[in-house]
Amino acid sequence: MDPYEAIISKRDLRHYDGEAVPEQIVNRILQAGRMAGSAKNEEATRLLVVRDQAMKNSLAEAGDFSSWIGTAAFIVGLAASTESLRMFDVGRMAQNMMVAAHSEGVASCPVTLHHQDRARVATGFAADWEMPMVISFGWPLPDAPESPLRRRRVALGELVSYDRCLRFLRVIRTRRRQGFRFRTGHRARRWSGRSR
Ligand SMILES: Cc1cc2nc3c(=O)[nH]c(=O)nc-3n(C[C@H](O)[C@H](O)[C@H](O)COP(=O)(O)O)c2cc1C
Repeated sequence: MDPYEAIISKRDLRHYDGEAVPEQIVNRILQAGRMAGSAKNEEATRLLVVRDQAMKNSLAEAGDFSSWIGTAAFIVGLAASTESLRMFDVGRMAQNMMVAAHSEGVASCPVTLHHQDRARVATGFAADWEMPMVISFGWPLPDAPESPLRRRRVALGELVSYDRCLRFLRVIRTRRRQGFRFRTGHRARRWSGRSR
């Protein structure tokens, strides 16, 4: 798959067919994460690959929206010491891995671990470490139900400003008048004129 096509066609999928992902593909995904740059080139983030079903089930209890992750073929946790954790670094690794997976036909979804105490018990990382996010991976289930959160992305004309930022405020005010709630986002479905 062309890299640009892989980036723009990637969607977060939560339904998997239960089949294992071959080691070679898993390694390509992990390599893609490894090659992400990090702030000051510190490379503080570490990856935990979880294939064990009991551990996947325990991790499912560590987030508020993660009950389904036990069905993933494997899960990758992104962890760092509390002192060195940088979410931008975590995000770069995560997106690299998800796009690499997508280009191999493997579906994925990032998942927040809201309950670090439970994640620590599930996986055994140290008290001065955190694992804020995991990514679930697996072959996509054919005919899976669509995510209730799914909607088109904000149009490029709404997303981007050139040379000055004042426009952001105007957009937010206009959207509030239209009844948009920034926390839920689902009302955005009502708007038209979006691409992809
Ligand atoms: C930082 C972050 C945290 C997320 N946490 C969760 C989560 O806890 N559970 C979940 O099911 N999806 C989670 N998602 C996935 C989002 O719901 C998803 O990216 C969004 O709905 C867009 O999905 P789409 O690519 O299918 O359009 C998270 C995404 C991001 C970027």
